[in-house]
Amino acid sequence: MKVFLLSAILALLWVPTAQAEVLLQPDFNATKFSGLWYVVSMASDCKVFLGNKNHLPMSTRAIKATEEGGLHVCMEFLGADGCNQVDADYLKVGSEGHFRVPALGYLDVRVVDTDYSSFAIVYIYKELEGALSTMVQLFGRTQDVSLQALKAFQDFYLMLGLPDDMVLMLPKSDTCIPESKEKP
Ligand SMILES: *[C@@H]1O[C@H](CO)[C@@H](O)[C@H](O)[C@H]1NC(C)=O
Repeated sequence: MKVFLLSAILALLWVPTAQAEVLLQPDFNATKFSGLWYVVSMASDCKVFLGNKNHLPMSTRAIKATEEGGLHVCMEFLGADGCNQVDADYLKVGSEGHFRVPALGYLDVRVVDTDYSSFAIVYIYKELEGALSTMVQLFGRTQDVSLQALKAFQDFYLMLGLPDDMVLMLPKSDTCIPESKEKP
């Protein structure tokens, strides 16, 4: 009986987001992943995100593979005061497609699934002001993604234990397209 109770309690305490095994896109190729992506949808259990969910702007990611196997990511957000830009380096951790982003508090970032040409699903485990949270982003090469990509995104966040009310479909809008900056 004690054993049964203990396992019941452990089952209640078990947090799917922290424990689920998150796989990487096999043979991830950072060069093919480079270029412009739109963030079409996001799911997250971060309190700050949930509090601002209805005011989040459409944003884009201009990605460039680095020689070290990481990514240089330029994020553009359309705000009330125009375009805001944040640059971040995604540093490679072990396998291709597996990163951490110290500047943003992203402890674990994984490209879970992508066909490179239309969609990508990105997993982010992050720390913000001491609070840990899980976020999943759906990227599209355009502001529209296929139903299959949406389904794959939904299956993945549900598997992590994120419910549908923690999901935001970003409104289609004018976006800030980063000017193509060729770095030497
Ligand atoms: C990654 O993709 C690029 C562009 O398609 C290609 O030239 C390169 O050989 C690929 N790298 C690997 C390791 O497959």
